[in-house]
Amino acid sequence: MNSIFSYHVRPMTGGDLDAVVAIEAETYASPWQYEHFQHELTAHHSWPFVAVEGNIVIGYICLMSLFEEAQILNIAVLKDRRGRGVAKTLLERAIASALEAGAEVMALEVRASNSSAIELYERFGFKQVGIRTRYYDAAEDAILMEKIIMEIHK
Ligand SMILES: CC(C)(COP(=O)(O)OP(=O)(O)OC[C@H]1O[C@@H](n2cnc3c(N)ncnc32)[C@H](O)[C@@H]1OP(=O)(O)O)[C@@H](O)C(=O)NCCC(=O)NCCS
Repeated sequence: MNSIFSYHVRPMTGGDLDAVVAIEAETYASPWQYEHFQHELTAHHSWPFVAVEGNIVIGYICLMSLFEEAQILNIAVLKDRRGRGVAKTLLERAIASALEAGAEVMALEVRASNSSAIELYERFGFKQVGIRTRYYDAAEDAILMEKIIMEIHK
């Protein structure tokens, strides 16, 4: 890959959906479908973002923020663009948007075996708050994680 790596994060649009769905399909065994992402574009409390290098989508995050609680519904980065801080930038953007929407807590679920994602979330101060036993395909546990994001006003 070119040593100059430059990208930015912006709201997801309809024109991004084919690329997002392609990343999703190569990432997950049970991927979200096109319609699922399409719904995120118009759903009242949803904030989907993409990371874009040139005009290529290299990652995305889907956030839902309702009253005081925000949830990360999905985050993925193109395989050959991982390990370069893209997920960190996406998560920072999601947290900023959740705060803007009035959220105080951010929550998510992650597969117990997904150590890179768990590391990412711990890096941001998310704490394990529960486990859903055999939640994925009746086989793998889901770890529930939360982070207080509320700004302290002095
Ligand atoms: C998890 C994922 C989104 C991380 O994306 P990324 O752009 O590679 O992550 P970043 O480069 O921003 O890394 C941020 C931090 O996450 C952690 N991390 C990321 N990849 C890691 C890995 N392979 N091993 C250990 N820690 C890792 C590190 O703490 C890293 O910080 P550091 O680079 O300063 O050490 C990416 O691996 C991915 O798309 N995975 C498949 C989809 C997925 O599992 N999504 C989460 C569902 S809950």
